[in-house]
Amino acid sequence: MSTPVRHAHVTGWGRYAPSQILTNHDLERMVDTSDEWIRTRTGIRERRVAAANETTASMAAVAAMRAIRTAGIDPTEIDLILLATLTPDYWMPSTAALVKEAIGNTRAAAMDVSAACSGFIYAFATAQAYVTSGMARHVLVIGAELLTRFLDYTDRNTCILFGDGAGAVVLSASDEPGGGLGIEMTTEPQGAYMIWLPAGGSKSPPSAETIARGEHYIRMEGRETYRFATRTLASTALAAIQHAGLQPSDIDLFIPHQANVRIIEAVAKGLGLPMERMFVNLDRYGNTSAASVPIALAEAVNEGRVKVGDRIVLVAFGAGFTSGAVAIEWTADPARGIAGDAAVQPSDVSVRLPVDWDSVDPIPEALAAVMRRPGPVDVPLDDVVPGEPEPARVS
Ligand code: ACO
Repeated sequence: MSTPVRHAHVTGWGRYAPSQILTNHDLERMVDTSDEWIRTRTGIRERRVAAANETTASMAAVAAMRAIRTAGIDPTEIDLILLATLTPDYWMPSTAALVKEAIGNTRAAAMDVSAACSGFIYAFATAQAYVTSGMARHVLVIGAELLTRFLDYTDRNTCILFGDGAGAVVLSASDEPGGGLGIEMTTEPQGAYMIWLPAGGSKSPPSAETIARGEHYIRMEGRETYRFATRTLASTALAAIQHAGLQPSDIDLFIPHQANVRIIEAVAKGLGLPMERMFVNLDRYGNTSAASVPIALAEAVNEGRVKVGDRIVLVAFGAGFTSGAVAIEWTADPARGIAGDAAVQPSDVSVRLPVDWDSVDPIPEALAAVMRRPGPVDVPLDDVVPGEPEPARVS
């Protein structure tokens, strides 16, 4: 008697975007740029900015709870939590550990995944391996980023590109065919210093000097990154499609990393497909790194762009240089997502705060001035009872 093959199906999906919007016109007041330049070179019109009392963990927890509600399971049923981010709340503990408590899970193993903008795909692939091997029944996969606190608002090459947000999926085991079909991942260290954040790690610990040099901000060689992205996205997607035994023309919708609409156009061209097969929402969010694919996936499904039986491809590239793609056969009722989103509000999640430690106002001064949101952190970080998480009180 043969053992049934386990498949990993996406059963839940959810997203969270902070309410504050930073427009291209706002950026015109900060650096020598224009709405016209940003729109024509990138396709971005606006991006979201987390409030002072929000963190990567708080945004991740809202998206995660929405995905769990959509899946129709209890948070305690999650066996493993994988959180992809390059902007964790702290170096340690992992942001995933904070999210585990915030969603009310008591039994999952939780860890962060570091692969920059490809992080969600790397985490998804790991989750698929856990589910199909029988090591986990339900895995929560999150991509969450708070990039606006790591940007140099005097550098027009980078500060116009990025935004904040979170997206999540639940991958669940099933004997029914469908779900994750093919995976491809690549890592090219020749590009290691094309997108990087120089200081703060063991090579260059944070100091007054590293801060004076602005080495705590993201740096990027835009043209080289662009070249890598256009070369790799199509080939990585194609490999995942082939691993699934399919052709590009079999794919109903691509959910690419939302970095630049010109890059997405190049991918469509490279695969010989029309732009209608590419989902694009970067005009409203900019590049949210590891959060971009799960936010786009949740929006695409909730907007009715995905139906049961559709084949979709998630594909991303990022610092490292990394790239990753997964081909999926969609099996969940798309209508569940809107109800799942509505069931969870930011005030429903609580992230544990540290005791005996005062945070500084986390919003960069230039950003605060433009957003007209000056002032201190409004969560009393020194007033938390040990073991009692403080509500995130998201405005
Ligand atoms: N406003 C106005 N002018 C600008 C701006 C700006 N914000 N930024 C650059 N310019 C100028 C440059 O200085 C340059 O001027 P010059 O010709 O006088 O020297 C000119 O515009 C052209 O600059 P390029 O860098 O060649 O512009 P390009 O068309 O390549 O667009 C961009 C730049 C948007 C950054 C593009 O290269 C890109 O999208 N690269 C990929 C970036 C990316 O996807 N990064 C995310 C990686 S994911 C991760 O892991 C974090």
